[in-house]
Amino acid sequence: MDHFQYQNGELHAEGVALRDIADAVGTPFYCYSSETLENHYRVFADAVGGLDATVCYAVKANSNIAVITTLARLGAGADVVSAGEMKRALVAGVPASKIVFSGVGKTADELAVALKAGVMHINVESAPELEMLSEVAASLGLEANVSIRVNPDVDALTHEKITTGKSENKFGIDWADVPATYARAASLPGIRVAGIAVHIGSQILDLEPFRKAYGLVAELVATLRADGHAIEHLDLGGGLGIPYVGEQAPSPQEYGAMVQAIVGDLGCRVFFEPGRLIAGNAGVLVTRVIRVKEGATRSFVIVDAAMNDLLRPTLYEAHHDIVPVSEPEDDGEGQVMDVAWEVVGPICETGDTFGEPRALPATGAGDLLAIRTAGAYGAVMASAYNTRPLVPEVMVKDDAFFVIRDRISVDDMLARESVPDWLTDGGGARREASV
Ligand code: LLP
Repeated sequence: MDHFQYQNGELHAEGVALRDIADAVGTPFYCYSSETLENHYRVFADAVGGLDATVCYAVKANSNIAVITTLARLGAGADVVSAGEMKRALVAGVPASKIVFSGVGKTADELAVALKAGVMHINVESAPELEMLSEVAASLGLEANVSIRVNPDVDALTHEKITTGKSENKFGIDWADVPATYARAASLPGIRVAGIAVHIGSQILDLEPFRKAYGLVAELVATLRADGHAIEHLDLGGGLGIPYVGEQAPSPQEYGAMVQAIVGDLGCRVFFEPGRLIAGNAGVLVTRVIRVKEGATRSFVIVDAAMNDLLRPTLYEAHHDIVPVSEPEDDGEGQVMDVAWEVVGPICETGDTFGEPRALPATGAGDLLAIRTAGAYGAVMASAYNTRPLVPEVMVKDDAFFVIRDRISVDDMLARESVPDWLTDGGGARREASV
């Protein structure tokens, strides 16, 4: 359930007409519903409430500090994968004691920042990272709380680019190496290892892969405890999928019951890292039709948003529903275009598309469209390709809206660039390169 519904013929975010936001900030823009974010967090937290659980929102899904703050105020922790995300989480009021630091490529500097901040856990993904963390922690006179991320070699049955738990993926420690890695961790200075982490992928629509992976982790708890390791907590990752095209996704309650059945009796604290489930349906990308172009074999609705603003359709062949901001008349006749229309952006690539051609209600230049389910992995994956500056993000609460990120201007972009002095004939660079 989300809070983007038609009221009086206009699509609203909660109590605010998207058209009013478009008038105020221009298009394209991302719009998020606070109520939807909060609701999704609460539903998930309740679903795992029978466990000693902490929900660490995966900041990568939508890292705007207003989004993180909204969730932090409900008690959410954060799963971060860079020093930048860590800073965002801290600025948004997530206590360091609820931050998990994940990722395969943490640098020594990032590890030091995390240790100094006092993050709850660092999920270590390789033997060399473990050695590096030990050195960094020992040099700072600190102890790192570590979970080892294991790779269970389980197929999450999702898109290959977001599958992370197969042995050919770069993530986690190979299953056969896990006992030796814990033994090594136990012997290293500056390391306190007390947890197991696992995350097998994203947009997972079937509970079976989770069941398999968590079952293996439960067996591992017994093995590692028998080896003398105190396994106190499990980080079960994120990954629960959401409907984009009306797919049947397992409910958080079904997921929670499955987890409870598998790990409920192990006496462990359990961490979860949902991202998409919380933010996905809490956001839309609003765009304006520039023109409609009828082609010989296909027709196009050309809009002012593009693949740089929402990369998912071209990167993952992802489907996002697209609806007009003005509610189409419901007479069932003459509204749905009988040809398939492809909604595309202005970028000079055929991949600049918002998905497969589809039937759309009649639309023309100047109309506003909303691309749905764009709250997760939308704005965070945007680029400025084709010198198309990052678009604003707006948050709605009840009848109020607030611009939570300004539109970046082309001048802002140019101000960060400089021409070297050998190209300026002594005329001076526009700006000294910063070191
Ligand atoms: N924890 C870890 C260690 C992760 O790598 C991820 C996502 C999550 C949690 C959150 O997963 P979620 O609950 O959101 O599925 N850009 C892609 C998704 C990439 C997911 C990467 N890792 C997309 O747009 O579909």
